[in-house]
Amino acid sequence: MPDAPAADIQVYINGQAQRVPAHCHVAAALKRAGLAHSRRAENGQPRAAFCGMGQCQECRVRIDGLDHCLGCMTPVAEGMRIETQA
Ligand code: FES
Repeated sequence: MPDAPAADIQVYINGQAQRVPAHCHVAAALKRAGLAHSRRAENGQPRAAFCGMGQCQECRVRIDGLDHCLGCMTPVAEGMRIETQA
């Protein structure tokens, strides 16, 4: 018997409530919300998840007030507050 699909949960992305699958990571939640990038480099260049495995640091966001969290390595959680730094 196949596993039932994971239920959606609610997170807040830049203050906006979003329903996302409970099994996804923050970087995927940003993509589902239509955000093309998660932060800007010092020169203003937009940056977004690249490696998807915790090496490049390009997916950094603020999660529940904590800066520089890796979106690709952080699973979403009910009520999580995600802020892009773009
Ligand atoms: S996408 Fe490279 S560390 Fe997250």
